Amino acid sequence: MRVARYNYSHQLGADIEPLIADLRAMLVGGRYELTAEVKQFEADLARFLGARHVRGVNTGTDALVVALRALGIGRGDEVITQANTFHATVAAIELVGAEPVLVDVDPETFLIDRRQLRDAIGPRTRVLMPVHLYGKPTPMAEIVALAESRGLFVIEDAAQAIGARIEGQAVGTFGHFGCFSFHPSKNLSAAGDGGAVVARNADLDEALRRQRELGQVGQNNHMVVGFNTKLDALQARILSWKLPRLEQWNEHRREAAGWYRERLAGLPLSFQARTEGETHVYHLFQVRTRERDALLAWLRERDIDAVGGYPTPIPAHPACARKGWKAGEFPVAEALSKELLCLPIRPDIPIEEIDYVAGCAHAFFEQASHK
Ligand SMILES: Cc1ncc(COP(=O)(O)O)c(C=O)c1O
Repeated sequence: MRVARYNYSHQLGADIEPLIADLRAMLVGGRYELTAEVKQFEADLARFLGARHVRGVNTGTDALVVALRALGIGRGDEVITQANTFHATVAAIELVGAEPVLVDVDPETFLIDRRQLRDAIGPRTRVLMPVHLYGKPTPMAEIVALAESRGLFVIEDAAQAIGARIEGQAVGTFGHFGCFSFHPSKNLSAAGDGGAVVARNADLDEALRRQRELGQVGQNNHMVVGFNTKLDALQARILSWKLPRLEQWNEHRREAAGWYRERLAGLPLSFQARTEGETHVYHLFQVRTRERDALLAWLRERDIDAVGGYPTPIPAHPACARKGWKAGEFPVAEALSKELLCLPIRPDIPIEEIDYVAGCAHAFFEQASHK
């Protein structure tokens, strides 16, 4: 049996002819940039999230960059985020000229450690940027209250968590801005790159729009220096095609995660902790084990597309050498980089594939105990 991480033909559905016809008409008719399809997708996503202001951009990385720029963040400012995320979170902070300040994460939830976050706030801090990692919502009420009490902004990196909720409220709608990615690996994916930003109010939305469109207000009138990072119209059409099924797909991911938890119970593994009131969307299903590398090799030999969970922690990337972060500064993030293993989870994964993966994991620990 082969267990894949992605199945795009399932995501597009059996009858894609109406979509192909629309894409063909757009292609031939020259409907490429900020068209009705882009506005439609922004409206669709706003409805899905319960948000008022949504703008499509080129990538999830750009979403973070333009959100930071729309808040006026740049040289001399500090932005606090976590030591175990995808590199893009930190790159976006660097790209606007600000300083990323890292804090360690909670060993149970793998999310930002809220006590350390509070302690890291200094005179130059302007933004708190938590990451809803692997699709698990970061508890936002406390972070928003902390930011308000200290006069700070909040940007949610929700790239991995579209549809995740806290007591019914979608992540990405708690902060000043919420940033999403539609990279092909994500729960809602374009046929290439894409991203979106949710703004808390109309003023922030307008500042964001200017950053997205070269600072333009009307033709040939550039009010501020901005980027050019608009969601492509063809991608917007594809995203609107998929969005109506996202809720059902996320529900299947939760069910599949439950199957994994049941079948792997009793093995020397642990899972990302669950939190009351949350709706996790399991972008990735992580298990934690000291035997990560050997188990990973064992599963891959058996045609299971498992991968290591961010095996290089942020501080260890050559791109971060300038910062002078030292090994041992973020012990939990560093341990997770050695111990997390991501098992395949897809919106269409059948229980037979979960049984197969779990059976292989049991066989691995069985043979390891005889060594
Ligand atoms: C946590 C996180 N932040 C930001 C990004 C950047 O998104 P993109 O790849 O669309 O630029 C990603 C995904 O790639 C991500 O996982």
